[in-house]
Amino acid sequence: MNHQALSSTVQLILTEGKGILAADESFGTIGKRFAKLEIESTPETRRSYRELLFETEGIEHYLSGVILFDETIRQNSKNDIPFPRLLMDKGIVPGIKVDKGTKPLSLFPGELITEGLDGLSQRLNEYRNLGAKFAKWRAVIKINQDLPTQYCIESNAYVLARYASLCQEAEIVPVIEPEVLMDGDHDISVCEKVTSLVLKSVFSQLYNHRVYIEGILLKPNMVLPGKQSSQKTSAQEVAEATVRTLKRVVPAALPGILFLSGGQSPQQATENLNAINGIGDTPWVLSFSFSRALQEPVMNKWKGMDQNRSSAGQVFVHRSRCNSAAVMGKYIKSMESQQI
Ligand code: 13P
Repeated sequence: MNHQALSSTVQLILTEGKGILAADESFGTIGKRFAKLEIESTPETRRSYRELLFETEGIEHYLSGVILFDETIRQNSKNDIPFPRLLMDKGIVPGIKVDKGTKPLSLFPGELITEGLDGLSQRLNEYRNLGAKFAKWRAVIKINQDLPTQYCIESNAYVLARYASLCQEAEIVPVIEPEVLMDGDHDISVCEKVTSLVLKSVFSQLYNHRVYIEGILLKPNMVLPGKQSSQKTSAQEVAEATVRTLKRVVPAALPGILFLSGGQSPQQATENLNAINGIGDTPWVLSFSFSRALQEPVMNKWKGMDQNRSSAGQVFVHRSRCNSAAVMGKYIKSMESQQI
């Protein structure tokens, strides 16, 4: 394993004040998001939308990485530049989603396991030749009265660690995403407890698999009350619970933590990230790897229409700039009205 190659990719991704755009929605997910806006989902509409994102001027000041989907890493801009090259030319590191989505975990009703290990090392080699320097794998943990089971947590942790070891062997930095879902009416203390159990299991499996911790990135959920919960929490409470949880179970050797947004509103995700960074005194860089919280307002502005491309690009730069400020703990609400 080449530690140096992994560490230099990690350092590029963790450039101060920058984060990741997750633009790796599967056919099903982007199809649903387009359908809400009555945009047809075809290879060309998907290509054109992603081109809008990647070509937006100025995003390179706020984004250090972009996660692509299998279709997208093979697509070109209208000027015939492959997307990975277009991103690299802007100083943005291209990454790739390599999991094949979730399936029901057999004999554990309601729980999910992520698939995609079969043939993964060959796919990683192919993606590396296409320009990918990091990868992403998402595991999903559900909370309700009876869930999650310890078996589901451990199975997903094992698979995440197996994926991470294959990535490192291929000199690709694994982004490890164990997502405790926001769905449910549980309060924040339940999310804290489940997130702790999940991260504890993930790091134990990473250790068993001999994964080089300095050469990975973690993409966890923030610690939040369930979406249907009546509990109201401030950004400060979310930040304290999130940092407390991470400090208890995540090794200091890990270089960076890039949060997912998980269905929070774009502004809420930014406020929480800012409060997390406001706490200070943590051994890791704490940044973002958002999909919905970066893209929702952009897609809503674009609506699939050419005449909206430039205003949608402005919305994208604005959201990216707000999140970049939050990484430095310098976001203030009045930035929301300063869109240029
Ligand atoms: P959200 O920010 O929308 O949660 O997506 C992050 C992601 O990459 C999911 O795998």
